Amino acid sequence: MSKFESYLKTRAVFVEKGIKAELKKIKNAPQIIIDAMAYSLEAGGKRLRPILTLAAAEIFGADKKDILPAACAVEMLHTYSLIHDDLPAMDNDSLRRGRPTNHKVYGEDLAILAGDALLTYAFETLSNLQNNKNIKPQNLVLAMNSLARFGGVRGMIGGQVSDIFAEGILEGKSKRAQMLLKNKLFKGSKMPHYFLLPKESKEISACALLSYIHSNKTGALITTAVEIGALLAGANGNNLKNIRNYASKIGFAFQVVDDILDVTATAKQLGKSNSDAENKKLTFVTLYGLEEAKKAAQKAIKEAEKALDNLTGVNKEKLTPLYDLADFFLNRSY
Ligand code: IPE
Ligand code: IPE
Ligand code: MG
Ligand code: MG
Ligand code: MG
Repeated sequence: MSKFESYLKTRAVFVEKGIKAELKKIKNAPQIIIDAMAYSLEAGGKRLRPILTLAAAEIFGADKKDILPAACAVEMLHTYSLIHDDLPAMDNDSLRRGRPTNHKVYGEDLAILAGDALLTYAFETLSNLQNNKNIKPQNLVLAMNSLARFGGVRGMIGGQVSDIFAEGILEGKSKRAQMLLKNKLFKGSKMPHYFLLPKESKEISACALLSYIHSNKTGALITTAVEIGALLAGANGNNLKNIRNYASKIGFAFQVVDDILDVTATAKQLGKSNSDAENKKLTFVTLYGLEEAKKAAQKAIKEAEKALDNLTGVNKEKLTPLYDLADFFLNRSY
């Protein structure tokens, strides 16, 4: 095992202990919903987002023990996004984290509610940091704001909406476009890209749409994972800007690589269904091909590394995991 691999393993174990402790605190709720939450949360993902939260806080001098509840909150929100992403109404997948998806085991109704419960419990968990004297209350408010903003309609949700509506768009056969046309919600024969992009977007094209989707459905949660750690540790100004930039670049690259793995790896290897082709997803592979997709991910990772180079007055030794994580985001095989 390389030094970095053992770092990932140790950190994942640390996060998982935190997750178990947070789940244990839930009292006076039906056991079935706690079980459904734990089923997906304890299934063992890579834990990359909470690991990033801890790593980002450490470069600005925080102790990982103080940041752990925030890291757990990020993983809860991420896990909720996976449960909902797998639902029949969305990607309709049957395998996640090496197990049958939440709705396959608990039913769709409970899977929806388990997702909702993880989303809200994430905020409860994060806000409990008000009892920690090492965390400044104003930094906690900023962190909560970040999680809400990037997890919400201007972040992950926005990206997921456009991802779903962009299905079949390259073939000109978007099911959702047909539905909207039938209900007279827009005019024209094709799903207009402008309908799926924020009206503030500078460019209206399939390329711009795909970039929007990836930066938001995936990049946004990775950005807030890092930003929360930095904020709780008291980062501000240019350092905050640079660390956020690092995060959004690796977050974007993460989804490009996810698109690549969806066609180059097996479900067994990934521990999840690969259904992009079946769902006619707009992906970096379908729009640009495998080679160009790889190049786009490489470019984003280079930019992320540059952003790290620009940090000033930070603990340089603690930066190593962030460089290694960027490299892992590009070269991972699962
Ligand atoms: C999967 O994320 C969802 C995407 C954004 C592509 P991960 O690949 O980090 O999933 P886990 O947490 O390891 O299960
Ligand atoms: C995931 O995108 C984004 C989320 C917000 C969960 P995908 O749909 O590609 O993720 P996987 O491949 O199912 O993990
Ligand atoms: Mg999806
Ligand atoms: Mg999916
Ligand atoms: Mg995918």
